[in-house]
Amino acid sequence: MMSLVENVRLAPQRTMRSLLISLSQRRSLARLAVRSPLTRPVVARFVAGETLDLALPAIAALKRAGLHTTVDVLGESVTSPELATTAVDRYVATIAALSEGGLDPNVSLKLTQMGLAIGRDFCQANVMRIVEAVRGVNGFVRFDMEDHTQTDATLEVWRVAQDAYPQVGVVIQSALRRSSADVDSIIAVGGRIRLCKGAYDEPGSVAYRTKAAVDANYARLMERLLLADVYPALATHDPKLIAKATEIVESRGIGRDRFEFQMLYGVRRDLQRALLDRGYTVRIYVPYGQEWYPYFMRRLAERPANVGFMLRAIVKEEGRRIRAK
Ligand code: FDA
Repeated sequence: MMSLVENVRLAPQRTMRSLLISLSQRRSLARLAVRSPLTRPVVARFVAGETLDLALPAIAALKRAGLHTTVDVLGESVTSPELATTAVDRYVATIAALSEGGLDPNVSLKLTQMGLAIGRDFCQANVMRIVEAVRGVNGFVRFDMEDHTQTDATLEVWRVAQDAYPQVGVVIQSALRRSSADVDSIIAVGGRIRLCKGAYDEPGSVAYRTKAAVDANYARLMERLLLADVYPALATHDPKLIAKATEIVESRGIGRDRFEFQMLYGVRRDLQRALLDRGYTVRIYVPYGQEWYPYFMRRLAERPANVGFMLRAIVKEEGRRIRAK
């Protein structure tokens, strides 16, 4: 049980996280932020570019450094069929460009970008177009996991896709109480899981609300996945969990080709490098596109110090603009 003192100490941090996540859903702010030149330099740390042409050199540079990649064509919460179709077209073009450029034909997508809110069948058909494009180049597609209201639908759409082509993976969040059961049922069908902590502000009825509980669940699920030998992707920048993973694989003699670490573009490059130097497979999640606002806000929420970093960059940029006038 968390002490009252600990609760009080963590409260401002949690409030900041909740605030940033709630701001991530504000479309009016998104429009404002995307148009402002002030945010550009900070966003560039987390987003590889606003267009595929800008992102491709960044992906190629990661490959030259020995890192693997999965590419996210940014977008989510789509409510019009036209926009969902445009998103599918962008993915298909991205997969072709990655394959032609000799880069990993590996992509990550969100089902709310594929029209899940419009209809399950519509979304499934859109997803299957991407699965077919990936199959054509022997690639891989991962369904990101959104907030808990989308979990059942995401797993159901994933199951249908995975029956058609096995190189389709899904994401499980250690923050959710249901995840232990989900991991068991996905292991039972040999499904490919990316394990992460969870980037959404979930209610206590469905989620663990303390970092300690989320981390402890991550450690439990990670061990289960490594021992089940289902090529899990361990998506975290948490040095303690990474150390625990390497301890498990080294003590159990689990091969380095039986799992991979995954990290986000622009986050803990030192750790990415260190794991690579130790001979581990590291895949970087590389987002690109104009609809970076909600993704970016979730990155701020994960590390409140990033807000200070952003404010300093904005003040510096504004100073530069004023001096140039
Ligand atoms: P934690 O938040 O405890 O951070 C550990 C350390 O990592 C911090 O102390 C800091 O040094 C560094 N760090 C973490 N985030 C940072 C940031 N934004 N900026 C700078 N430093 C940071 N979530 C989800 O809900 N659905 C999904 O599909 C995915 N997909 C996904 C893919 C990949 C490849 C990764 C790495 C992560 C996700 N996530 C996700 C996000 C995930 O749920 C989680 O919010 C973040 O990874 C942050 O959690 P950590 O495990 O890094 O630990």
